[in-house]
Amino acid sequence: MHTSYHYDVLIIGSGAAGLAAALNITPAARVAVLSKGSLSSGSTPWAQGGIAAVLDERDDLESHIRDTLNAGADLCHEDVVRHVVSRGRESIEWLISQGVNFTKADQQDQPPFHLTKEGGHSYRRVIHADDATGMAISSSLCERTVQAENIDVFENRVAIDLITHKKLFLPGNRCVGAYVLNRDDSHVELFRARVVIVATGGASKSYLYTSNPDGASGDGIAMAWRAGCRVANMEFNQFHPTCLYHPQAKSFLITEAVRGEGGRLLLPDGQRFMQRFDPRAELAPRDIVARAIDHEMKRLGADCLYLDISHKDAGFVKSHFPTIYETCLKFGIDITRDAIPIVPAAHYTCGGIMVDHQGRTDVNQLYAIGEASFTGLHGANRMASNSLLECIVYGHSAAEDINRKLEDIPPPPEAPQWDESQVTDSDEDVVISHNWDELRRFMWDYVGIVRTDKRLQRAKHRVDLLHQEILDYYSNYSVTNDLLELRNLVTVADLIICSAIQRKESRGLHYTLDYPETLKQSEDTILTPTNYSTRDW
Ligand code: FAD
Ligand code: SIN
Repeated sequence: MHTSYHYDVLIIGSGAAGLAAALNITPAARVAVLSKGSLSSGSTPWAQGGIAAVLDERDDLESHIRDTLNAGADLCHEDVVRHVVSRGRESIEWLISQGVNFTKADQQDQPPFHLTKEGGHSYRRVIHADDATGMAISSSLCERTVQAENIDVFENRVAIDLITHKKLFLPGNRCVGAYVLNRDDSHVELFRARVVIVATGGASKSYLYTSNPDGASGDGIAMAWRAGCRVANMEFNQFHPTCLYHPQAKSFLITEAVRGEGGRLLLPDGQRFMQRFDPRAELAPRDIVARAIDHEMKRLGADCLYLDISHKDAGFVKSHFPTIYETCLKFGIDITRDAIPIVPAAHYTCGGIMVDHQGRTDVNQLYAIGEASFTGLHGANRMASNSLLECIVYGHSAAEDINRKLEDIPPPPEAPQWDESQVTDSDEDVVISHNWDELRRFMWDYVGIVRTDKRLQRAKHRVDLLHQEILDYYSNYSVTNDLLELRNLVTVADLIICSAIQRKESRGLHYTLDYPETLKQSEDTILTPTNYSTRDW
């Protein structure tokens, strides 16, 4: 069975970035949006804390810019920080126009919306919808997308690989579509398009413990790498300091806004400790807090530490953090009375596919936006709540660039259907589950919060062996979602390890006992694939 589609714009991913782009492409263009699961899958609906933007007249853009640069440990691209931060207010206004209901201020002296504080921010500037901001954004954008007449939604579709001129043995360096697995009938479909946008989210599933939902397997980063795009700063995978520690809670996040509203981090004996690590204590940037927790857990041999907001008024806690209150209660923890057991977990991919201000990659007519991309905004450590802002800003920037150019981009050439003649259905899926577990465990143990040369070399050795084994498997068996994710995970794990090995210093999220100092000169780690060619657009 062969199915082909032809669109003006193909968007792979339906999170905040993909849908912001889709809704801003001219209605004259036919747009396809793909999602691996339902339209509302991905990290976006899980976002809790909110979106950072300068919305109070007592705050100012320079302060948001300075805080972002500080959190990023001198590695942010200042032009990009200015590009994003200065579009904060208009991005929030656009979200409100799409129907997002942000929480209103509960005090007279605040602007119309309640603004909370998170690590690294020197001012209250995080607008939110209670503690379920991502869900509010995702449902509004999904609703608008379904209503848009020019947008077709394809759920349960897994992009396997991008189709480029090089793959078709045509001259030039252009992307013209993707091969896509339809999970409902297990067939591979051909999507051709004049422009392709990768908006597939991050790669935190490469670690054993993560705050991310299933599916954050770095698919877009791996696909773009295979298609000839450079990838940068993959060593900076962010660990969120506070995920709920409970055997049945699958890495449920406890938002940093709990600390922003007065929550305290405690050792098992009830003592505070963060002031020993940073004068900003609980509200230091995330890399510092996660490292301090890791250090104290190892020092004390503790399975977890605690986050306590029970000293605040119970009504305040329940009304500001209803989702966290309800979820913790299900696990027998009443956060208005008990301290919450917490551990750090992999949370956000600061590196990714290299792009310019419009989200253009190294391959013509291929854009990358959102967590899959590397814009230069986050440097060595993303400041809390800057990523949803980046998704909205780059969704708009990419759409505007596409709207300007679309008329002049020729239709994509014909492409062959996916060839399944050489493969059979697998009869040993255990290989996939075994390799999946092994990979995520050694990434956690050897490429985690604290690194050494020896641990990284061990990880490199293992990832090379796994890579070979997984590629052999891939070339012999029919594709499934698990196999595709594993193939992408091993690629992104390799990119993370290679980047970490290249960085001979400690900076932001990359901390190594062998090079504890930060070098004076800050440089991005750029990895270049063998099929890379300089772009001409
Ligand atoms: P995602 O929202 O992850 O969406 C990815 C999309 O790509 C999905 O639709 C998925 O189905 C699709 N996809 C992936 N691979 C394929 C494939 N091969 N084929 C087809 N489709 C594919 N950031 C903030 O700024 N503020 C917060 O408060 C905040 N809280 C967070 C809390 C949690 C628990 C988590 C996990 C993250 C949080 N973040 C927060 C980070 C932020 O949510 C993400 O960075 C952001 O939502 C990423 O959006 P995205 O559009 O790039 O990708
Ligand atoms: C959180 O709410 O703590 C997550 C915020 C973020 O990742 O930006």
